[in-house]
Amino acid sequence: METVIEVKGLVKEYGKLRAVDNIDLEVKAGEVYSILGPNGAGKTTSVEIMECLRIKTSGEVRILGYDIDKEQREIRKRIGVLPQSFNAFEYLTVKENIDYFGDLFDRRLGADELIEAVQLQEKRNVWFMNLSGGLKQRVGVAISMVNDPELIFLDEPTTELDPKARREVWEVIRDLKSKNKTVILTTHYMEEAEILSDRVAIMDDGRFIAMGTPREIIDRHGSGSTCVVKAANDAALQAVKGAGMDSENKDGDLWVRLENKGSLARLVNLLSAGEVSYDEMLIKGSTLEDVFLKLTGKKLAEAEA
Ligand SMILES: Nc1ncnc2c1ncn2[C@@H]1O[C@H](COP(=O)(O)OP(=O)(O)O)[C@@H](O)[C@H]1O
Ligand SMILES: [Mg+2]
Repeated sequence: METVIEVKGLVKEYGKLRAVDNIDLEVKAGEVYSILGPNGAGKTTSVEIMECLRIKTSGEVRILGYDIDKEQREIRKRIGVLPQSFNAFEYLTVKENIDYFGDLFDRRLGADELIEAVQLQEKRNVWFMNLSGGLKQRVGVAISMVNDPELIFLDEPTTELDPKARREVWEVIRDLKSKNKTVILTTHYMEEAEILSDRVAIMDDGRFIAMGTPREIIDRHGSGSTCVVKAANDAALQAVKGAGMDSENKDGDLWVRLENKGSLARLVNLLSAGEVSYDEMLIKGSTLEDVFLKLTGKKLAEAEA
């Protein structure tokens, strides 16, 4: 498979702050690759260096085979960018905005084709300022595709969107993948990275602390499955503790770690004792959020503070 992004030993310093601290990255054609991390992790700095918007301190970066130091013009022509906190011209319509950006390129796609790609047919002639947050982001994705790029960077495309609008942007990203585009997505939403990505790099404090497919990362760094026993009574608690199972009481629910294949059968057996009562049981696998917590001691959301 063709390598679209090759980054080796990338460093970016802002004065004394090392915002990107020696990262390596290899992205293959057709992948959706996410950089997942809290605010301030260094995601925007990393992608904006790859987009030729910021200058690196050191390291090697090749985009679509072109050297970031010597061939920026070639790179800019061939990539698409949806910047963080994207905004377009407020008093231009969706179509007018797309045409404005499209006309900056020698080779471009037609506005109507792009409007259809992001499902904005009904908003074609509406001023940008009158669109909801989710629709604005879809205009942003359309603009990022205007030069028919092979590689598209989307920097936090769903931040501050409500769940429904977020899902609609996910659909647009899935469409990009089905068109064989390579997509670099930055996000601080664990679920988004897990659902959309072929591969993920988890970033914290300028470094990649885990990389791979979501499955690989969870298998390598996760802590297996947990059985949650809802509204467990004291007898349930005592039975599980007495049997030496790794458990925790969280707001009246009993969380029991399933260490091996036999654990669940053992637990069910303990919970069938006469005095034990509970509402229901469910099994929860590890998530990327759990991995982040384990590797950094912080929750993704807390780490933003
Ligand atoms: N232009 C800049 N000048 C100085 N510091 C910056 C600049 N841009 C970002 N930073 C700092 O670099 C760190 C990484 O920021 P950023 O790349 O925006 O992270 P993220 O996109 O993951 O939130 C943060 O501590 C941020 O305050
Ligand atoms: Mg950012």
